Amino acid sequence: MISTPFVRLLGSIKGAAQADIVTGVVQGRRPGISGNATQQWLSIRRVWHGDGIHMLQTSASFRNDLRDCDNSISLSEIISALSYALDLTEDAVHGHALRSCLLGMRIAAEAQLPADQTSSLYFALLLKDVGCSSNARRMGEIVGGDDRPLKAAVKFEDWTKPHKASVATVKLLWNSVLPDSGAAAQVARISRIGVSQHRNNDGMIGLRCHRGANILGKLGMGEAAAEAVRSLDEHWDGSGYPDRLQSEQIPLLARICAVAQHLDMFSSTRGVDKSIETLRQRSGTWFDPQLVRVAVSLHRRGALWANCSPTDSQDDTRRAVLDLDAGKKHQLEAGQIDQICEAFADVVDAKSNFTFRHSMGVAEAAFGIATALHLSADRVQLVRRAALLHDIGKLSVSNSILDKNGTLNDEEWRSVRLHPGISRSILERVGPFREMAVIAGEHHEKLDGSGYPKRLMSPDLSIESRIIAVADAYAALSEDRPYRAALDFDEIVSIMTKLVPYKLDADCFDALVRTVSINNGLATRPAMDVTHTIAAMNATNATNSVLAFA
Ligand SMILES: [Fe+2]
Ligand SMILES: [Fe+2]
Repeated sequence: MISTPFVRLLGSIKGAAQADIVTGVVQGRRPGISGNATQQWLSIRRVWHGDGIHMLQTSASFRNDLRDCDNSISLSEIISALSYALDLTEDAVHGHALRSCLLGMRIAAEAQLPADQTSSLYFALLLKDVGCSSNARRMGEIVGGDDRPLKAAVKFEDWTKPHKASVATVKLLWNSVLPDSGAAAQVARISRIGVSQHRNNDGMIGLRCHRGANILGKLGMGEAAAEAVRSLDEHWDGSGYPDRLQSEQIPLLARICAVAQHLDMFSSTRGVDKSIETLRQRSGTWFDPQLVRVAVSLHRRGALWANCSPTDSQDDTRRAVLDLDAGKKHQLEAGQIDQICEAFADVVDAKSNFTFRHSMGVAEAAFGIATALHLSADRVQLVRRAALLHDIGKLSVSNSILDKNGTLNDEEWRSVRLHPGISRSILERVGPFREMAVIAGEHHEKLDGSGYPKRLMSPDLSIESRIIAVADAYAALSEDRPYRAALDFDEIVSIMTKLVPYKLDADCFDALVRTVSINNGLATRPAMDVTHTIAAMNATNATNSVLAFA
């Protein structure tokens, strides 16, 4: 970011008092570079918030700022940051995975868990919900409404005993199930959910646990960590899922994860006392009695909850988590970082049948465009990683919206429009991902200012950002959606041509067409003859809306 003393505003800012967003062109010195050559024309976005004008960092103004920074990163830094995305899918209180990690590691230390198991436990606690997106669609189908509150409720209620559902859960079901239908339909659906509860649990929890364990395996976290995630929902009395394991058949790490998860879910929403009270009530049925005694002992001695309140500073909580990582000095190789990005892209894509390969498809297209445009190897790598994770904020969007076969209402659109900003806020927690975060957050911006969430314009958007916008549009059009089938290449080109060059970058689009043609063995097309008219600028509403939520 340009520091204020070096910035000279050259253009006047018109309408700043009335407009939400205005643009200024500034001349400034890039931090970390000395000499006369530092004078650069840069574009920045200035945002009027009512209490003053704020500078917003865009990809065009960002791209050179951190080039000299240390890009090394440890596994715990990246996983602890991306764990916020898993909290979103589960509708858990922000920071749930981090607090669970602190609680579980304290219980493990008190229970004298052997040192060779602590690293497996650490990553199992952070990633225990990594399989969570895989059953979101099914949950949405079962309730006929928003899946996320129900996913959160599952952790409060003993779903192995549906006949003992609490008043709060019945109320939640009443508000969540078929929200747009009449009372009779709701009662019928809730009754059906009760009757088929065990079958649903088997399917959904099994899917989530096995998928989570597979992802940990792919990430090289080891068998112990994978088993902990696979057995997270087993109960001490043998009534849990997916394998009805009993007492010490359940891996110790899974038992610790279950207790830690419970403690945070209850304490962050209903208070510490309620958390301990329900933990005791479920001792010997849901939870390992010995671990319950350990947790209660820590609680009594005031040694359990430091940095574990949602009101504590998020930075302090994360720092405490990072301090517990014995391997924090081990820096990841580039290939390992790619593997983590691919794994989280899988988590995002698994949320809906319609997007089951979307992030990977955007990454492939973006890689092809970036290579065809002769970007340097490190910029191609940046583009590919940003493409893999561009929609990570979509984990916050309900499947009742993602899978909706119809027009979204205003409230649903509001939820959709938040997802690029959420992608950015998650990714910028990883130091070396900060530029990637800005690029990912711009994937729905358009060159003419008609995109979202910031309504940025051409000078704000870097080549990397433009590549991802084009790749995202192409991937979305080539996939099935609830309201239409996948389009073929000629149809896609026809639609996207209407958006070039006013909304999408012409060079990126040409590179895409060349790359896809070559990869598919099609005749190579000539570079576009851009003879657009005003009519083309006003692409039809249908064309815009088909791309509005890619
Ligand atoms: Fe997308
Ligand atoms: Fe998106």
